[in-house]
Amino acid sequence: MKLIIINGPNLNLLGTREPDTYGNQSFEDYFSKLQFQFRDLELSHFQSNIEGELIDKIQNADKEFDGIILNAAAYTHTSIGIGDAIKAISTPVVEVHISNTFSREKFRHKSFISPQAEGVIIGFGLQSYDLAISSFLKG
Ligand code: DQA
Repeated sequence: MKLIIINGPNLNLLGTREPDTYGNQSFEDYFSKLQFQFRDLELSHFQSNIEGELIDKIQNADKEFDGIILNAAAYTHTSIGIGDAIKAISTPVVEVHISNTFSREKFRHKSFISPQAEGVIIGFGLQSYDLAISSFLKG
C-alpha cells in the first residue's frame, strides 16, 4: 500500500515551533520512526508552505497513492482550493491535526477539508499521523 503524508505551512518547523502546542520532535525524526513502524507500507512525505504546491501535490497523488494523510495546517481554515482539490480526486484523504483545533481559537474550528475527507483525526499530537495510517489498514 502506498500512502503519502502531505503537510502544509509551518509544519517544516515542528520541533522548534510552539513546542507547548506541537511538541519537541521534528517531523523528519518522527517520519523515520513511522517508516520503521509501518515498514510493510510505502510511505512518502511532502511539505510545502505554498497553497498551489499543495493543490498540485494532491492532484498528482490521485491514483498514484492508495491514500493521502493531509495536515493542511493554517490552510485548513481558509482554503476552498484545497477542499475542491480533494473533491476532484478519487484517492481517499484523511485529515489530521496535531493539536485539538476545537480547544483553540474560534477561527480554527472551521475546516474546508473535513467535508471532503474520509475521516478526521484531531488532537493526539504526532500520534494523529499513526492513527491516520492505521485507518487505511482496516479490513
Ligand atoms: C494544525 C492546526 C492549525 O490550526 C494550525 O494552523 C497548524 C497546525 C495542527 O496540526 O494542529 O499549523 O493543523
